[in-house]
Amino acid sequence: MDLTMYKRAQLERRLASFLQREGFSNAHAFIVALRQEPSLYRRFHTYLTIHVTDFFRDLPYWMHLKQIIAHHPQKQWSLWSAGCSWGAEPVTAALIFEDLALPYHIKATDSDDIVLEQARQGVYAEDSYQKVPSNYRRFFRLHNDQWRLKPLTHGTISYLRHDLVHQPPPGTFDAVICRNLIIYFEPPARSRALANLQLALRPGGLLFLGATETFLEYHELGFSPLAPSIYQKD
Ligand SMILES: C[S@@+](CC[C@H](N)C(=O)[O-])C[C@H]1O[C@@H](n2cnc3c(N)ncnc32)[C@H](O)[C@@H]1O
Repeated sequence: MDLTMYKRAQLERRLASFLQREGFSNAHAFIVALRQEPSLYRRFHTYLTIHVTDFFRDLPYWMHLKQIIAHHPQKQWSLWSAGCSWGAEPVTAALIFEDLALPYHIKATDSDDIVLEQARQGVYAEDSYQKVPSNYRRFFRLHNDQWRLKPLTHGTISYLRHDLVHQPPPGTFDAVICRNLIIYFEPPARSRALANLQLALRPGGLLFLGATETFLEYHELGFSPLAPSIYQKD
């Protein structure tokens, strides 16, 4: 894991709180334990990055995306959800397509195996389900006190390990959703990530960023603003 990608102050905070949580009084003891315990290493890797996500996070922004999609019918939409965490984001996109009855395929990627495993299971807690607007709840069913997605009928989601900074894009897409990830990157990593997102889109493709993210260099990178947090590749 290349830690130089992430903002230093945030990493230091995460590192300090992980050491305290796991009962290590100094860095040396922690490094010795990391070398000996693969499970500690995996937990640490997951803890270092932030995985907060929600279904329909920033709902009005998703509704803008939905309107754009509804006005651009095409044979099949191909989407990439980069930094998908435990899957709320690709599932939200899938539910929008299901609601519109439009064919789609979503490639959902994250650099962390633990959240990807959780995403593949497709089992959601009550508080996550509560974030789903009522007209989309029909796509879920309750099974043994847990919420699951009913089988998707118009498309698919596939989950894949992928590092946005160090790997080329996993294909060419009509839309790329990358929300609340590049804000954690130092400038060089952010530039590499944005170049990858640009490369991943076909001309006319859509880039959907997080609601609080600034993208002042959109013109330089060949994008035009289309709606709040949504840009179109020229
Ligand atoms: C804060 S979550 C955002 C989840 C979702 N996109 C959203 O906005 O609700 C950021 C995710 O990016 C992932 N991530 C961190 N570094 C990454 C990298 N270099 N490449 C791909 N994913 C990364 C983390 O594992 C985490 O799951």
